[in-house]
Amino acid sequence: MASIHIAAEVGEVAESVLLPGDPVRAKIIAENFLEDVHQYTAIRNIFGFTGKYKGERVSVQGTGMGIPSISIYLHELIHVYGAKKLIRVGTCGGMNEDIRVRDVVIAQGASTDSSIVHQVFGGAVNFSLLADFELLSKAVDAARTLNLPVKVGNIISTDLFYNDYDDPHGTFGAGKNTFNDKLRRHGILAVEMECAALYLQAAAAQVQALTICTVSDDLLRKEFCTPEERQSSFNDMIKIALETVIQ
Ligand code: HPA
Repeated sequence: MASIHIAAEVGEVAESVLLPGDPVRAKIIAENFLEDVHQYTAIRNIFGFTGKYKGERVSVQGTGMGIPSISIYLHELIHVYGAKKLIRVGTCGGMNEDIRVRDVVIAQGASTDSSIVHQVFGGAVNFSLLADFELLSKAVDAARTLNLPVKVGNIISTDLFYNDYDDPHGTFGAGKNTFNDKLRRHGILAVEMECAALYLQAAAAQVQALTICTVSDDLLRKEFCTPEERQSSFNDMIKIALETVIQ
């Protein structure tokens, strides 16, 4: 029996799932990093594949962009297909002095401006959205073994890609005490749009989750990755994620 948004039969999706936002990235990961690949879904052109990495079954499922989209795929992967280890592999915008384009960031925690935590706890608790510690420490070990530098810390999952946080004249402007400035001064490394949903749903279902991102743009310095630079740091991130799930 397939789910509403994923055409796979139960059993076709592995317990370990990599989650790129872009479905074409899912195809690229499957084709370049996995063996014995088969595609189990193309509903809405959001592709999903299962294959083997070093003999272990691994799936790669596109999630689309943003918390509502990834939340749909997470629910079906966890509750219909039994996914147990979920690693988002995406891009993020660097927003801290220490973060440069092409860096790989591992999200130890996710802050968010989304209402998803409020929807669960009704405002009674500011629930901490955390990575699974075992996956986090394995990813850091894998990165060290591969000799790939990573930055580990808190990120923010935002609902708005286009916002006026960096409008110098607005409440959220780039100056001192604006929204982004406060996040930066509280150690937020980067911004993306999905991690908080992953950590919340994983906590609710008591499964393991981690987010690894490559920095595609630098909000502080207004720099962007070239497509070639994006590809090489993207490959580093995938290697770390795959070595993490098989350990
Ligand atoms: N904002 C939000 N999400 C992102 C960004 C960004 O600048 N870059 C990559 N994902």
